[in-house]
Amino acid sequence: MSSPVSPYLLALLSVILFSTSSYATPPISNITHESILQCLLHHSVPHNLIYTKSTTSYTSLLQSSIQNQRFDTPTTPKPFLIVSPTLESHVQSTVKCSHYHGLQIRVRSGGHDYEGLSYVSHDPPFIVLDLHSLSSISIDTSHSTSWVQAGATIGELYYRIAEKNKTAGFPAGLCPTLGIGGHLSGGGFGTMVRMYGLAADHIIDARLVNADGEILDRESMGEDFFWAIRGGGAASFGVILAYKIKLVYVPPKVTVFTKSTNLSHGAKTLTSKWQQIAYKLDDRLFIRAVIQVASDEKPCRTIQVGFESLFLGEKEELLALMGKSFPELGLKAEDCQEMSWIQSVPYFAGYKNGESPNILLDRKPQFNISFKAKSDFLTERITELGWERIWQEMLRGEEQAMLIVDPYGGRMDEIPESETPFPHRKGSLYNIQYLVGLGEGGAKEMKKHLDWVRSFYQFMTPYVSKNPRAAYLNYRDLDLGSDRVGSTTYTKAKVWGRRYFKSNFERLAVVKGKVDPGNFFRNEQSVPPLFPA
Ligand SMILES: Cc1cc2nc3c(=O)[nH]c(=O)nc-3n(C[C@H](O)[C@H](O)[C@H](O)COP(=O)(O)OP(=O)(O)OC[C@H]3O[C@@H](n4cnc5c(N)ncnc54)[C@H](O)[C@@H]3O)c2cc1C
Ligand SMILES: *[C@@H]1O[C@H](CO)[C@@H](O)[C@H](O)[C@H]1NC(C)=O
Ligand SMILES: *[C@@H]1O[C@H](CO)[C@@H](O)[C@H](O)[C@H]1NC(C)=O
Ligand SMILES: *[C@@H]1O[C@H](CO)[C@@H](O)[C@H](O)[C@H]1NC(C)=O
Ligand SMILES: *[C@@H]1O[C@H](CO)[C@@H](O)[C@H](O)[C@H]1NC(C)=O
Repeated sequence: MSSPVSPYLLALLSVILFSTSSYATPPISNITHESILQCLLHHSVPHNLIYTKSTTSYTSLLQSSIQNQRFDTPTTPKPFLIVSPTLESHVQSTVKCSHYHGLQIRVRSGGHDYEGLSYVSHDPPFIVLDLHSLSSISIDTSHSTSWVQAGATIGELYYRIAEKNKTAGFPAGLCPTLGIGGHLSGGGFGTMVRMYGLAADHIIDARLVNADGEILDRESMGEDFFWAIRGGGAASFGVILAYKIKLVYVPPKVTVFTKSTNLSHGAKTLTSKWQQIAYKLDDRLFIRAVIQVASDEKPCRTIQVGFESLFLGEKEELLALMGKSFPELGLKAEDCQEMSWIQSVPYFAGYKNGESPNILLDRKPQFNISFKAKSDFLTERITELGWERIWQEMLRGEEQAMLIVDPYGGRMDEIPESETPFPHRKGSLYNIQYLVGLGEGGAKEMKKHLDWVRSFYQFMTPYVSKNPRAAYLNYRDLDLGSDRVGSTTYTKAKVWGRRYFKSNFERLAVVKGKVDPGNFFRNEQSVPPLFPA
């Protein structure tokens, strides 16, 4: 490999080298397993935490948190080393040795990246830093805060919070195996988004390893750097070791319901009505719509719309609220279940039959499928006629597509667009996610599904946000643009950067220029450094 070594990087390296006299000094281009291994061992990373392709458990460790089978094929580029740190110092050593050897690293917490960028690089060789063992969680009940390490899952966090305090919770995503490191650094929203905003809105401190291998906290990194890792995606900036978060209040009892409808049972009117009100209901009430092609009635396929709801309060009050705001849904007492907030977590993860919260401690991937996802934001409501056209498009062909439409509003409207890098606040009424399975039939079948979801995304253009057509970083989509690793210019990256971050993108690039000018932390869609004149 010929690594492009900038004069800056050389200067930086000499600082590291001379300040850390214990570094051996092989030539920079000599990237062999041996030399990097020696470096890691020399810097106190134990042998049993380093996996090479010849280590027996290399493959099972690599696969352990791959959530999308699309990136688990024989031709998927593989890391030549996986390091699985158990101490913060192991992360520092890995960053220093990789930096010194001019090697790319990919950092993985929960492995949910939609494009697999936490464990795949299209420009090998690369190292994967797999943080699953850095997963401790400490809860300070008297201050309602928690320090949670990056490799913990969101399910583990929810469980540990509830174990300590039944009226505390945290507003993050629905899938329990999401990793803290990726999920919180990219935003993170779930069923409490209308009441409390994003997971990233509740980060109050952080510990990370920067490109020089130093550990920084909020105070030592400064407010610009701290701003960037609360929605800008940490992958461009450093390795998050842990976040300190503020917990939120949840009532002792919450109420959930799921009510489904379809084309022959008024789906069109209901969806249209739901869309007029879901973003401006009482902040405690979240009703999402999951829209999919119902496959059980071939050849009469239909569109099924499932309204899934969490209310942070009791059944009686919910029924009164629904009677006033959304009587068309005909919600009845028997449609509703009261439960504790922690019991509602498995419910929204798809375990609808009263699964015990213990399931939240299971790190095994819940699904084993190959899929592609894309995202949009709605700034205007879609008319009944609009929904009719969208559904016709979904029914065309044989796709098993799914649309998940999540309402914002409430707390999201109150937070200014520049408060965090995540800009989709007031005026972004709904987030839409398009999901399509890619099947198991090989390249030709996969292409058919990919073509479909890409053309569906084109079809949606008139209905969604414009200038820029916005997207959610955590639903990463390389179709928006990407670049060969390390060669991204600001001008080029703006094409996708503004779609994820709007006008916050420039500030992110300036922060990047300050904290990682040599672009050590990079991937196909990372924020490039910008040096203001
Ligand atoms: C099944 C499923 C359900 C989902 N549900 C939701 C949801 O309800 N709400 C929502 O908002 N999103 C959801 N997402 C999207 C999810 O938020 C993102 O995929 C998120 O990035 C996952 O974080 P991770 O740590 O699990 O992923 P990873 O793949 O480990 O990481 C994602 C990105 O962050 C980087 N990264 C990870 N850890 C660190 C670290 N410690 N330091 C620096 N960089 C790091 C990686 O390099 C990569 O670029 C879902 C995704 C899936 C697959
Ligand atoms: C590269 O490193 C290996 C192992 O450390 C060493 O044996 C070899 O001589 C080095 N090659 C060069 C060109 O320095
Ligand atoms: C539990 O958490 C809530 C919300 O954070 C807080 O108001 C309350 O004081 C906590 N109770 C205890 C006993 O710590
Ligand atoms: C459509 O909805 C009705 C009423 O909920 C239900 O009885 C029927 O089974 C549904 N049909 C399909 C194909 O989902
Ligand atoms: C996932 O599914 C594939 C086939 O579709 C199978 O080969 C593989 O073993 C499965 N993996 C797990 C962990 O179940």
